Amino acid sequence: TWNTGNIIDDQVAVIRERVGDAQVLCALSGGVDSAVAAALVHRAIGDQLTCVFVDHGLLRAGEAEQVEKDYVSATGIRLKVVDAEDRFLGALKDVSDPEQKRKIIGREFIRVFEEAAREVDAERHIEFLVQGTLYPDVVESGGGTGTANIKSHHNVGGLPDDLKFQLVEPLRTLFKDEVRALGAALGLPEEIVMRHPFPGPGLAIRIIGAVDRERLDVLRAADKIAREELTAAGLDRDVWQFPVVLLADVRSVGVQGDGRTYGHPVVLRPVSSDDAMTADWSRLPYDVIARISTRITNEVSEVNRVVLDVTSKPPGTIEWE
Ligand code: XMP
Repeated sequence: TWNTGNIIDDQVAVIRERVGDAQVLCALSGGVDSAVAAALVHRAIGDQLTCVFVDHGLLRAGEAEQVEKDYVSATGIRLKVVDAEDRFLGALKDVSDPEQKRKIIGREFIRVFEEAAREVDAERHIEFLVQGTLYPDVVESGGGTGTANIKSHHNVGGLPDDLKFQLVEPLRTLFKDEVRALGAALGLPEEIVMRHPFPGPGLAIRIIGAVDRERLDVLRAADKIAREELTAAGLDRDVWQFPVVLLADVRSVGVQGDGRTYGHPVVLRPVSSDDAMTADWSRLPYDVIARISTRITNEVSEVNRVVLDVTSKPPGTIEWE
């Protein structure tokens, strides 16, 4: 029978046997899968593991800090943080096409990760790369074990030939809820273990229009409020994901105090789903929606209108880009 204790013991034995005394690298994305995969490998081989976190500046409020501080103090993992915000924002400047954004982010991610991997490799000759591949990812990609591809989170093709590491994929037989249970048993922070799925390109694909720091800050502020109110209402587990989308190129007239405003709308896109292939809009209680709306328009001065997306998938996708 399935039991987190058994899985941990079995995987620890398998990883030790496979890796021996070699050095191992892992890219943390901020999401559940890579966090649990790394924690499991760390449980097995401790200090032989080095993690790299590329902060692309496109995460939600507090998420980078949760990786850099809470995750590290919970696990004791050696973490190399690369602050690449300027580089990503520079590369994304004036780009509003969604596929172009994804390409640029994927390309920059692989370059930055490659540089970091070379540095770690120069210090401690890396032989293995950990990936947080889950069972559904294996099925979706036809079951093959490729070379290092970091694909699930970053839409990228692979590392160059001289950085060919062998893959360690300790979550390959598991589903998401099993991975969460494992993460909790490994002592990871609740905020990381219970985190909703979040796209690799991050908030860049939740800003409809070009991405810049000001727009990211506006979206982060609105998104933080939506997450806070969802949590306060005890509804985190009732939604699969809750994107908040900034329509950065749209303005509408509003009124506040004795002045007219000409601000931006944000879209609330809470969805329920089992696997993200299909989804339905979440029937969140109206009073929760109302609190989110009131707080966003009161606290985020650039936003003067909040709208609710009531489209299922299909025909709508979960994300707006
Ligand atoms: P859609 O918007 O296609 O999203 O209904 C389905 C699921 O995939 C996530 N998503 C992405 N994840 N890179 C990712 O790692 C991406 O470019 C990307 N685009 C969408 C989305 O958040 C949802 O969970």
